[in-house]
Amino acid sequence: MRAIRITRTGGPDVLELAEIERPAPGPGEILVRNQAIGLNFIDTYHRTGLYPVKLPTGLGMEGAGEVVEVGEGVDRFAVGDQAAYASGPIGAYAEFHVVKAGRAVKPPAGVGAGVAAACLLKGMTAEFLLRRCFPVQAGQTILVHAAAGGVGSILVQWAKALGATVIGTVGSAEKAARVRELGGDHVILYRDQDVAAEVRRITGGAGVPVAYDSVGAATFEATLGSLARRGMFVSYGNASGPAPAILPGRLSQLGSLFLTRPTLFDYVATTEELDASAAALFGVIAKGQVRIDIGQTFPLAEAKAAHEALEGRQTVGASLLIP
Ligand SMILES: NC(=O)c1ccc[n+]([C@@H]2O[C@H](COP(=O)([O-])OP(=O)(O)OC[C@H]3O[C@@H](n4cnc5c(N)ncnc54)[C@H](OP(=O)(O)O)[C@@H]3O)[C@@H](O)[C@H]2O)c1
Repeated sequence: MRAIRITRTGGPDVLELAEIERPAPGPGEILVRNQAIGLNFIDTYHRTGLYPVKLPTGLGMEGAGEVVEVGEGVDRFAVGDQAAYASGPIGAYAEFHVVKAGRAVKPPAGVGAGVAAACLLKGMTAEFLLRRCFPVQAGQTILVHAAAGGVGSILVQWAKALGATVIGTVGSAEKAARVRELGGDHVILYRDQDVAAEVRRITGGAGVPVAYDSVGAATFEATLGSLARRGMFVSYGNASGPAPAILPGRLSQLGSLFLTRPTLFDYVATTEELDASAAALFGVIAKGQVRIDIGQTFPLAEAKAAHEALEGRQTVGASLLIP
């Protein structure tokens, strides 16, 4: 089968299209013939080595397609079912991928492989961030960085469905228009504007009770400066590089702030949590509260161009690789 492999960490150039043996499912596993593969920023962290991987390796955490083989003891899926997965093992950038049956879900009728692969990882992330990490209440004003991105565009729509007022930050005027279309109430161009000052202006000086920050290094101080007393700083990504170290005393000086650095995989650690998170996501999609925006699609062989676009801030919404 065709698969993207890396033998060393580095820039997009390290991504190589290879012909490798098609894997077989072991006990409790399923073999999925990928019809669509989700591109996620975490794939770039694996590629660069920011998140350590054992080399050589495939890449990619998310995909959807048809179950073509089931291993011993699997009763959650049968051959011919549709399956979507988003929590490892790495290696989804391939025509086929083996995952544990208990780490995959069946997308509901009406959700095709493209939408499933575009939404599962990013949408379950939005689910745990808004409902469990910091449960957003109707009437709250919240800050979402990189609001036109894959996770960001789902966060904006879902937060609106929860009754929140959403302030989104973006890197360009085109992305600002996109966030407004998604329902964002206020948009800040964080490359040009003072984010904390804008947030204070919008909130009448109070600041926000929660800020979802996936940008990391570049927005860290602005996020700290945007929070209300006892506000929650949710640092969940490193698109511009990892967030810096902070002394606990600073959180006190800035208003008894909370800081958390969550990862999806601790919020969908069990099959029950995975099923509940995916069901909540498919629920808001079915109600039309969240529309999955597939901004761009690349052939699997063009994974390098896909990574360049994602890291070059050229993408909006979700991106797919098609095997
Ligand atoms: N903790 C978790 O469990 C978890 C799960 C999923 C995703 N994440 C994180 O969520 C974030 C979004 O993931 P995604 O896959 O949906 O990606 P994405 O948001 O579609 O792409 C990243 C966006 O970040 C913004 N950005 C700001 N500074 C950047 C820089 N220096 N380089 C590149 N991008 C920059 C860009 O938007 P602008 O042009 O508007 O600035 C870019 O489009 C990532 O940080 C990812 O690691 C975390």
